[in-house]
Amino acid sequence: MEFELLKTSENSRARAGNITTDHGKIETPIFMPVGTAGSVKGIHTRDLHEDINAQIILGNTYHLYLRPGIDVIEKAGGLHKFNRWNGPILTDSGGYQVFSLGDIRKLGEDGARFQSHIDGSYHMFTPENVMDIQRSIGADIIMAFDECSPGDADYNYAKNSLELTQRWLERCFVQFNKTEPKYDHRQSLFPIVQGNTFEDLRKIAVAHVKNFDADGYAIGGLSVGEAEEIMYEMTEVCTADLPTDKPRYLMGVGTPVNILESIERGIDMFDCVMPTRNGRNGMLFTSKGIINIKNKKWENDHSVIDEDEHSFVDQYSKSYLRHLIISNEMLGAQIASQHNLAFYLWLVKTARQKIIDGNFESWKREMVVKLKERL
Ligand code: GUN
Repeated sequence: MEFELLKTSENSRARAGNITTDHGKIETPIFMPVGTAGSVKGIHTRDLHEDINAQIILGNTYHLYLRPGIDVIEKAGGLHKFNRWNGPILTDSGGYQVFSLGDIRKLGEDGARFQSHIDGSYHMFTPENVMDIQRSIGADIIMAFDECSPGDADYNYAKNSLELTQRWLERCFVQFNKTEPKYDHRQSLFPIVQGNTFEDLRKIAVAHVKNFDADGYAIGGLSVGEAEEIMYEMTEVCTADLPTDKPRYLMGVGTPVNILESIERGIDMFDCVMPTRNGRNGMLFTSKGIINIKNKKWENDHSVIDEDEHSFVDQYSKSYLRHLIISNEMLGAQIASQHNLAFYLWLVKTARQKIIDGNFESWKREMVVKLKERL
């Protein structure tokens, strides 16, 4: 994987760049739709490519390992062949889902022993087997195995947790360097910066990940219940010290406003379930603000979902989409997810163009006000 930094804003840390993977180019800043179990819920790959203009999607080690199981994905020839998405893929390591979904039985030096949220069966994740599993899944970018400490952890917990994550990272790189890709394309391993909401721990964490000559670096442990201002502050602390010639990925973030604020602070890559999960529940993001389509006020609004037409689904009417969502029709969840993803991809694409044109900050200030409106 290569990263080319095209431009850094003169008035902030906002950057535009290109990542080149063996499955194609990614123009940054970028938003990555989440395909937890291998599929972006309700969205065909054709629409991801052609309508939404997604450039990379996410998968989750935790889910894919539990179901369908790594042997099935290996027999398919890797996740790209299994789900028929031939663009870049990133997999998260399970170092987050195992803590949020799995029932942790024992967290120790070696790894995490947990019970499946599906059938209660027992499993163990270690830095070594999580690297092997991600070799088998075959994503272009794979993530280190980390502990994401709880949002309300105290300093001592956060420090011990960070130190465990650091030791795990060293083991991840040993295993990664000892093994080869299983398929016909390269893989890059991104370390994850932890340290909770403590500035000194974040600085220590960044200094540590810089010891590894990685192709990119992620910031984890944010958007886990802390105030937004603290999340921005921690992001800034990290981007101040991370290498400028490598992409920075802020994990699990966030709202359209969070994304613009973080781009301004030097982030290049994002993922979040919000456009799909909240979409399924009737929340639509638009450049004029947020729509709760279940609201009675849309019952007889026969205007199009979004006149900006980020996606072909925007031609449906608000009244029709409201009816579909309220009636629990599958198509309602699909339309809302597709609209939201197309909007997120439009937002980062426009941010990139504004950075290149040299007027990102003024555009961002105006957009943030509009994005916060409730329609
Ligand atoms: N997704 C959101 N936050 C995190 C994190 O801290 N670690 C991992 N592995 N995934 C995440």
